[in-house]
Amino acid sequence: MASSSAWLVLLMGIGLSGALDLNLQNSSSKLLTVLNTSAPAQELLYHIDVWRNEASAVAQDNPASSNLESVIRSEVGGDWERGRLVLQIANQARTLELKQAIYTALWKELQQTKQIYDPLKILEFYDQLSVHTDVPLQLMDHIYRAFIYRSAQLLEAPFHTASRVATFPLVDSLVNRLTFSTFDYLRDILEVLYDAVLALETPLSVVQRLGNFTASLTQLAQANLQLLSRQELKRGDPEVQNALQSNIRNLISQPGFEKEVTNSLQSEIYEHLPNDEQLLYTARKVCIRNGTQENSYIYECPQTYLICSNARDPKKAAYFIQRGHSNDSRPQFAFYSAFWRNRYILMEPATATASNATNSITKNVYSRPNINWWRVVYVNGGISFYDAATENSVLCGGDPLHWDGEEHHVYTRHASQFSAHQAECTWSLEDCSDAA
Ligand SMILES: *[C@@H]1O[C@H](CO)[C@@H](O)[C@H](O)[C@H]1NC(C)=O
Ligand SMILES: *[C@@H]1O[C@H](CO)[C@@H](O)[C@H](O)[C@H]1NC(C)=O
Ligand SMILES: *[C@@H]1O[C@H](CO)[C@@H](O)[C@H](O)[C@H]1NC(C)=O
Ligand SMILES: *[C@@H]1O[C@H](CO)[C@@H](O)[C@H](O)[C@H]1NC(C)=O
Ligand SMILES: *[C@@H]1O[C@H](CO)[C@@H](O)[C@H](O)[C@H]1NC(C)=O
Ligand SMILES: *[C@@H]1O[C@H](CO)[C@@H](O)[C@H](O)[C@H]1NC(C)=O
Repeated sequence: MASSSAWLVLLMGIGLSGALDLNLQNSSSKLLTVLNTSAPAQELLYHIDVWRNEASAVAQDNPASSNLESVIRSEVGGDWERGRLVLQIANQARTLELKQAIYTALWKELQQTKQIYDPLKILEFYDQLSVHTDVPLQLMDHIYRAFIYRSAQLLEAPFHTASRVATFPLVDSLVNRLTFSTFDYLRDILEVLYDAVLALETPLSVVQRLGNFTASLTQLAQANLQLLSRQELKRGDPEVQNALQSNIRNLISQPGFEKEVTNSLQSEIYEHLPNDEQLLYTARKVCIRNGTQENSYIYECPQTYLICSNARDPKKAAYFIQRGHSNDSRPQFAFYSAFWRNRYILMEPATATASNATNSITKNVYSRPNINWWRVVYVNGGISFYDAATENSVLCGGDPLHWDGEEHHVYTRHASQFSAHQAECTWSLEDCSDAA
């Protein structure tokens, strides 16, 4: 290492002064003079060796570039900060051969140090190299792939960990750093990641682990979509499908989802939801229909302000959907009449006594000017509407006891009665975007 002390002094000098450009002007710098020549590598080596006070004989035996590399690497000597300075010097190198020797040497040096285990260090080097226009494409490719593989390897950890509450700070910082990079990086990493984890873990486990991943909403959207497109997940296992849908529901129910995630990515996500659910996000207007009976739709009753549904009066009322979040961040929906333009489907709070007899219903669903939020729950291929404020009532219809001539009123039941009255309380949505 004694032979390289001159380099060291020089490089430390540069580092300490922090003024590389000034130093480059300093003619007392032998190294820079050497780097500054346009002589062939062989001759450079000669200069370097003379300067290192060594016989130049070594240079004769090996390809010039590998000698240059070994000189450069011995200078960096595992100290990555010094590597950074050498890279800056590469700008000043006069020959392409010398520059490329510096790039290659630095890459080899980076691999020799433990830095290589941190994908962020590779990315940093890759970014630094990217500003140089003369780095061989093959080398850039190689470094990029190393970055992708190291990143994927790091991201594997949570997928192989049984605990769903374990934390992974390195993973978090990598994922966070990736939000500032081109989207392709993430895409490429995920591809390698899924290759690896799906070879070792069950699809269900992979889906569930992804469900606990912390990342930006855009990254999670991309990660879920890429997982959904994997062959390994196309076997139709219902448990896996449910877990996937649960991930997607969690994702779209995040308050920032519609704001942060691009429209095209959002649409791709919605496509993976059952039709009823998809319409809540994609339709401009919807009609609400009896889950089992094709032509029984919700509409404003002709005589009262109550809400009706009547198979024999196949009126369809179209409702604009308003989406919101309750104060605990869960999604909620309001249905605004496209015809009346000033009325929502509203549930009036029920009186306490009426709601707890085992088979009781409450006729408290009106068309009213106040906004009223509903919680939508997806069940057995349909959807149900619970009042968002208490979640104690569920919207039902179809019991002839509550008809009044042609007015077939809808009503609410206590939420606890839902399972005993599923057909009565399960609805379906239809796209009525083009309806009046
Ligand atoms: C050049 O080097 C000499 C001796 O190392 C130093 O005194 C001088 O300040 C340097 N000049 C510049 C511009 O860095
Ligand atoms: C580099 O070479 C140019 C001309 O070839 C010269 O003007 C300049 O002073 C040299 N710089 C150093 C640091 O030797
Ligand atoms: C992980 O996901 C499951 C299922 O969504 C959830 O019940 C659990 O609370 C999550 N754990 C953490 C730490 O977020
Ligand atoms: C959320 O709102 C409900 C009533 O709408 C209230 O009882 C509850 O305290 C609120 N919770 C928070 C965390 O603000
Ligand atoms: C209704 O439920 C409450 C509490 O669950 C109970 O105290 C009350 O007796 C019930 N009323 C009727 C009429 O069943
Ligand atoms: C749907 O129609 C069936 C048959 O008339 C009825 O039994 C059921 O209660 C209705 N459900 C709703 C949600 O209106």
